[in-house]
Amino acid sequence: MNPLNHVAIIMDGNGRWGLKNKNSRNAGHKAGLNTVEKIIKVSLKKKIKYLTLYAFSTENWKRPKKEVNYLFSLLENFLINRIDELHKQNIKLKIIGVKNFSVKLNNLLNKSEKKTSKNRKLQINLALNYGSKSELINAFKNLKKKNEKINEKNLAKYLQTKNIPDPDILIRTGNTQRLSNFLLWQIAYAEIFFEKKLWPEFNEKDYNKIIKKFKNIKRNFGKI
Ligand code: FPP
Repeated sequence: MNPLNHVAIIMDGNGRWGLKNKNSRNAGHKAGLNTVEKIIKVSLKKKIKYLTLYAFSTENWKRPKKEVNYLFSLLENFLINRIDELHKQNIKLKIIGVKNFSVKLNNLLNKSEKKTSKNRKLQINLALNYGSKSELINAFKNLKKKNEKINEKNLAKYLQTKNIPDPDILIRTGNTQRLSNFLLWQIAYAEIFFEKKLWPEFNEKDYNKIIKKFKNIKRNFGKI
């Protein structure tokens, strides 16, 4: 059975769920946050060490301002209300992506990361203003600046995911089969699961099913 250390998730489908069920995309994001909470709980139960969640891509800035603002207000309230509880549960929060938000949100993110930095049970990597291509370009720029040899080990030092093992599983909900500029380097050997359900509908049973399937896959890593 394959050991499971790291699950990465593209949480897609909030907008469609919200429009269909509540006539509002933002209501879908709110419901999506409930799924985030559920999946954190199951990840703890399953003793998963790293959970990486794609919450906001570099491309998501192109959405209407009202939706972008709503997403960040959800995030702010989530951190204000839940960080103590996450801390108590021995969860470490790490932001991957470029933190160029409002001073208030940047401070809150930094404070939350600092508070939980020594926690060891589960590390949540929240991808915010994250884009894999710009992450890679930045890593190559660093290699060049420091005149370091271009190899996998050196490159990985300059990725946002430095010191984090690569994902074993990538899940994308929302019935769409694409990677949307997410962890393109890091998922080289991940097992990919495309899930028809929209993110707010995704539940413990669906997650467990994927984990069970993953555990029984023969992972060759290029060997036979
Ligand atoms: C993609 O669905 C989802 C997002 C861009 C945002 C993800 C945010 C959450 C799950 C809630 C907030 C999370 C935290 C941690 C505060 P979409 O809007 O692209 O869906 P669509 O494809 O149906 O339009």
